[in-house]
This record gives sequence, structure tokens and C-alpha cells, in this order.
Amino acid sequence: MIVTTKQLFKHAYGRYAVGAYNINNLEQTVGLFRGNLGKSAKNEDPNDNAQSAPFILQISRGARGYSDKRFLEAMIRTADQVFPEVIFAVHLDHGTEEACYDCIESGFYSSVMIDASHEEFEKNIEITRRIVDRAHAKGIVVEAELGQLGGVEEDVVGSVCLTDPAQAAEFVEKSGCDSLAVAIGTSHGAYKFSGKQGLRLDVLTEIQKALPKNFPMVMHGSSSVPKEWVDRINAAGGKLGSASGVNEDQYLPAAKLGVCKVNIDTDGRLVWCAIHREAFRDDPANFDLRPIGKAFMAEYAKYIIHKNTKLGSAGQLEGVRKSLK
Ligand code: G3H
Ligand code: 13P
Ligand code: ZN
Repeated sequence: MIVTTKQLFKHAYGRYAVGAYNINNLEQTVGLFRGNLGKSAKNEDPNDNAQSAPFILQISRGARGYSDKRFLEAMIRTADQVFPEVIFAVHLDHGTEEACYDCIESGFYSSVMIDASHEEFEKNIEITRRIVDRAHAKGIVVEAELGQLGGVEEDVVGSVCLTDPAQAAEFVEKSGCDSLAVAIGTSHGAYKFSGKQGLRLDVLTEIQKALPKNFPMVMHGSSSVPKEWVDRINAAGGKLGSASGVNEDQYLPAAKLGVCKVNIDTDGRLVWCAIHREAFRDDPANFDLRPIGKAFMAEYAKYIIHKNTKLGSAGQLEGVRKSLK
């Protein structure tokens, strides 16, 4: 069942965060749905829902252009039929104005992100407000961003600029956005921290105090870049250097301070890379794509289960279902 992120955040606020996972293809989609049902393989007990979680499926502009956006839409609709128990939101990640309008008009997305964080404060408000007016008229919710992450966001190269708590309340009030992506020290990609840095929970605390009560925040650049996966990739011929990510034990403290959505893309790519590199290394005579695709779907599902446990969303699916009645 597709719902809005707003509906998911209402249940999560202050208690756990909902995982927002980027997808590009069929194998990621199947792994994602299975993982959020708490199943890593097809034959696991369908009645065991101890680990099942609500989730956000997010699609970047890059993903929409990878093949044809209609393939993604068709795949997601099909997954919704194959896995009728799931509850999820369909979200545009890092949208431009043009991409937001396209998704709002499509009637398929339940949530869009307008990313005008690289603009001046007033201009960011003005653009976000336009999207909010168009989206709300169709029952679609809007995530906006204030502050800038490090690393690369699609084609915007950001220099780190943490969200200013003093600006956050004014931005939310004037733009009318439904959730706010905040910059609290993370960056996109596999190289987030060069030393012992981590999340700026002190800044997050101040932003939460400044915002209206129970206003949901979003954390981008939240992959943990697990050493285990980086080592596996490097052992199979990869060259990832000193990759490092967010400490997973900081997800829940961030959730308690109002972060309701945690964005994860890079970790999924690492799982994909490790499984494929190992498969080619270990069985050079194989040229069949399906055994590798199956191994990836199972590992990705397992990884989603692990991630949801760290986010606190594992086991929350039935609670969300009740909250929607
Ligand atoms: O924040 C960016 C996301 O990780 C999406 O990446 O534009 O390469 O699909 P992408
Ligand atoms: P990561 O690169 O840490 O996975 O961040 C993904 C993201 O923020 C998508 O919007
Ligand atoms: Zn992002």
C-alpha cells in the first residue's frame, strides 16, 4: 500500500526513523520489498512479521533517466501487488522544480523532495513554496532542504554548510514544507569523514527546539559504509580506499531528536558491488546473470533487515497499519 511520508512520520516521530532506500532496477526493488517484510529469501515464513518495517522507496533523477521512468513505476506497482502486506511511500529524491512537477502530475508519487538548498535563503523559500502549493493541491507531501551537505548531490557539488537552527523555523513556516532535510555533518557517497567526526547531534538538538512541535526532519547521506563490505570489495579486486560512513548506533539518538527519515543509497551499491565482484572472481567460467542476481537480492534483503533494526523501524509495520485506520 502506498501512503505519504507524512503518514509514516506521524507514527515514527521521536521513536524510530523510517529507512529511505534508493532503487534503480528490478533486483534492488525485490530485495528491498523482501527485506522490509523481514524476509531475505522467498521461502521464509510468511506469518513471521517480527522484523517487518514501513519504508520509503526513493527515486533520484539519475534513476529516472537510467532506463525510462515508466519501467520504475511499473516495477513498483507490480511489487505492491506481489507483496500486498507492505506499507511504503514513493518519493522523488533531490528533485528540481521540473522533476517535482513531473512527479506531482504523474499521480504515482506520494512525496517529492525539492532541493533548492544551493540557492539563497529567500530563493529557496520561494521555490519550495511553489512546489508545496502544487503538491498539496494533489495530496502529495513535500520535503525541502536547508543547509548543504558535503560531497556530490546529483550535479550539485556542495560545500558543507550546516543548517542554521535560527533560520529553520522561518524556512518551515514560510515555505509550508512537510519535512525538512537538515545538514548535520553527513555527506553523500562512500567518503564521509576523514577522521573521528560524526553526526552533529548538538546542532540537531537546537534545530528541533526551533521547529514546531513534532516537525519531522530528514537526514541525507546516512549510509554507514560498513567496513565488512568495503573489505569484501577490495579483496575481490576493488579499490575503495579509506571509505567511511555514519555510525549506525547514532541513527536512534538522531531519531529521538526528530529525524524521521534516514536516506541510504551508497550502502546498497556496496552490497551490489561486493556480490558481483566476488561472483566474477569465484566463478570465472559462469556467464549466467541469474545466480548472481539471486545472490544479490538475498544479501540486499538481509542488509535491509539489519538496517531497519538499527533504525528502530523493524517490527513497526503492524503498528503503522493500525495507525492508518
Ligand atoms: O543523493 C543522491 C543519491 O544517492 C542518488 O544518487 O543521483 O546517483 O542516483 P544518484
Ligand atoms: P548516501 O550516499 O549516504 O547513501 O546518501 C543517500 C542520500 O542521501 C540520498 O538522497
Ligand atoms: Zn541525499
